Amino acid sequence: MGLAWPGVIEHYAEFLPVSDATPRITLLEGNTPLIRSEYLAKRLGDGVELYFKYEGVNPTCSFKDRGMTMALSKAVEEGAQVTICASTGNTSAAAAAYSTRAGIQSVVLLPDGYVALGKLAQALAYGARTIAIDGDFDDCLKLVRQISENYPVALVNSLNPYRLQGQKTAAFEICDWLGRAPDYHALPVGNAGNITSYWMGYSEYHERGITDSRPGMLGFQAAGACPIVTGEVCEKPETVATAIRIGNPARWQEASAALRESEGRIEAVTDEEILTAYRELSEEEGIFCEPASAASYAGLKKLAAEGFFENRECIVTATLTGHGLKDPDMAVEMAEVPEKAPNDLDAVVEMLGLA
Ligand code: F0G
Repeated sequence: MGLAWPGVIEHYAEFLPVSDATPRITLLEGNTPLIRSEYLAKRLGDGVELYFKYEGVNPTCSFKDRGMTMALSKAVEEGAQVTICASTGNTSAAAAAYSTRAGIQSVVLLPDGYVALGKLAQALAYGARTIAIDGDFDDCLKLVRQISENYPVALVNSLNPYRLQGQKTAAFEICDWLGRAPDYHALPVGNAGNITSYWMGYSEYHERGITDSRPGMLGFQAAGACPIVTGEVCEKPETVATAIRIGNPARWQEASAALRESEGRIEAVTDEEILTAYRELSEEEGIFCEPASAASYAGLKKLAAEGFFENRECIVTATLTGHGLKDPDMAVEMAEVPEKAPNDLDAVVEMLGLA
């Protein structure tokens, strides 16, 4: 292998259900930075070493690219001509990009009015047949399941097992980089595919003896869309974190198993907690993620406030699932209005208090 990063399939081929006959449909996803927290870690406790797995720098700016490179490679191997998915936005962006890369058509069903602007722009730009449904994500998922069961279109939601296979590579990267498994891993939970994938990844490295432990999985849902926390389907999910506005997660059972086996925790965080965390990440740490992604750090703060990390020396990793530019409206809404000044040197110097 050369020095250039070849994408997650080629790099982790021995851990993935691929053969030489599997085409590599890739945009060189993965190999994302694990950024050590300089400022926010202090809020969690003296013994906490915190790292952010910044998935916003993938080719379509979210973690979905890891799963989609696998889903499309296998779909093409199996002769698919059309892909379909339901999405709160990021899955559709990745499905559209990787389908185009594969030379096939994508169809995406989105909850009308609840997809962040950057994500909608991506689906359209990559040439997906983009359909806004008068319903929520769970309604869209029901439709695409029925369509893919009855017509020749490949489903690329995380019900597709290859998606989870691809997404587990993020856990591999974390272990490769740290030289061990973290003690805890935090992430936002929506359809619950990603927490399932990470647990698979950590477990496989452990089974093969590459690592000698597995982390406790810490999952965080938005308080207005937290079915796994309450144990009941949420009929009317509502949250500013539109990416995780999901009432009936497809991978509910698997996520519950991961939480149980890892002796982890699943908690709800309010929109206010999510947005505070979102601002702290960009303003204090210099990392701009989308609101849903900030749920992982918001949840860690909540656990810390309950004393979870007290007197604990531990390494905590937290996935920041998508880039801040995915949701530019939210970023602008949350900020101060830009100041205005005349086109005049003295005026700007004076305004800055430099005169
Ligand atoms: N964070 C972001 C930014 C997401 O887009 C999603 C899911 C999640 C977290 C939760 O991951 O569903 O595996 O538990 N987005 C899906 C989509 C639902 O359609 O883009 P999960």
